[in-house]
Amino acid sequence: MTTGQLAAVVLAAGKGTRMKSDLPKVLHRVAGLSMLGHVVARVRDAGAMRAVIVVSPDQGGVREAASEAMPDVSIAVQERQLGTADAVGAARGALKGHKGPVLIVNGDTPLLRTETLATVVDATKAGVDICVLGFRAQNPFGYGRLITSEGGTVDAIREELDASDEEKAINLCNSGVIALRSADVMVLLDDITNDNAKREYYLTDIVGVARERGMTVGVVECGEDEVLGVNSRNQLAGVEAIMQQHLRAAAMADGVTMHAPETVHLCHDTKLGRDVVIEPNVVFGPNVSVGNGVAILGFSHIEGATIADGVTVGPFARLRPGADLRDGTKVGNFVEVKNATIETGAKVNHLAYIGDARVGAGANVGAGTITCNYDGAAKHFTDIGAGAFIGSNSALVAPVSIGDGAYVGSGSVISHDVSAGALAVTRAKQVEKDGWADRKRGTAKAKTRQKNSVKG
Ligand code: UD1
Ligand code: CA
Repeated sequence: MTTGQLAAVVLAAGKGTRMKSDLPKVLHRVAGLSMLGHVVARVRDAGAMRAVIVVSPDQGGVREAASEAMPDVSIAVQERQLGTADAVGAARGALKGHKGPVLIVNGDTPLLRTETLATVVDATKAGVDICVLGFRAQNPFGYGRLITSEGGTVDAIREELDASDEEKAINLCNSGVIALRSADVMVLLDDITNDNAKREYYLTDIVGVARERGMTVGVVECGEDEVLGVNSRNQLAGVEAIMQQHLRAAAMADGVTMHAPETVHLCHDTKLGRDVVIEPNVVFGPNVSVGNGVAILGFSHIEGATIADGVTVGPFARLRPGADLRDGTKVGNFVEVKNATIETGAKVNHLAYIGDARVGAGANVGAGTITCNYDGAAKHFTDIGAGAFIGSNSALVAPVSIGDGAYVGSGSVISHDVSAGALAVTRAKQVEKDGWADRKRGTAKAKTRQKNSVKG
């Protein structure tokens, strides 16, 4: 029987050699969040009040990634990668004084579900001393096999390299998730040796050690997909595909229409309202929130944007961090918006760049308008008043403000503020020369005739 607060230990010190990467394996992202971030979020949701991340000495960036999900994670350094039992041993100091159950999880299994983890922890509360999470593998090669006796007790976990042919035929495998009392962890770890094919200290041997002491070990089973581990880029892509499928299914269940869901790429934190329609080939980066009744047309790329109700985006729109589209606005094709508020009902329909700006309510920004926000050294703000009309192909040289209801004539380069209700035009006056074109053609024809006669 285990009571008290839950602590989690996340193992992330492995070399991740097969990723062929300069980045620590657990920092590779799935749906925009590091694998470690996913795992830490899941143990947090399963009730862990604290988490210890076991890393190797040379792994930078791990604390930052983990603290996105849990601000006060502890980091324990495993000096040499001597195996998963040794890795848990590295958390000894960080777990000192902890009384409740401990949940041990590998950092490279980002598809784990909160409910499953909670079931594993609950099993230790309900009776067994240790509970492992197992799964039936289509192809068990490479996994530790669960050796069970009648009644479902687990007697041992056998790693691939140490398994007999008979044991290799077992398809009930170890996921790497295990829960037990914290008082037992370090005592049992001390009994684990590296007397095996890899000369590693296997955490999985904790089961055999516990059984020798007469402790009970149970198993909870989950689906194979949920515990897929990422060891290579191909597996990373496989896990990404499954995560995307889950995210899209959840969005559709909540009232989002997707015409071709398999072409829509979501982020772990994408928030979508009711009756949102997403056309094919739309990509969401981190930190996007979409209101109700929004249409996101094909090939749009959106990150760090807030989109209110009844907005239309795209096709081919690019919304970058700080884009704030208020109710009923329209941002059309080949428009880029960055760090700018488009106020209620305003329209930026074609081929424009709106950066570091405010577009007032009901304003209309013509095709080809550019806010020239960067002077080569610093960024400056453009303020467009409510109801203003910016003619096509205008350059608004920031810092500059266009008053409410003002007009800017097309093709203008506006570098001074424009008063409310005024018209500003900066292009040269149109001149017309009677018969000029005919005369030009006439001369050209005459020249060609001359040339041909010389040749002939
Ligand atoms: C491990 C299990 C195996 C299980 C499989 C599930 C052991 C001995 N084997 O095998 O039973 O079926 O996971 O995917 O535990 N790590 C460290 N320090 C180390 C070694 C590993 O922190 O010294 C970390 C890794 O970063 C990784 C996790 O522990 O997150 C598992 O290590 P890995 O080498 O991937 O173990 P598997 O061979 O997959
Ligand atoms: Ca693994």
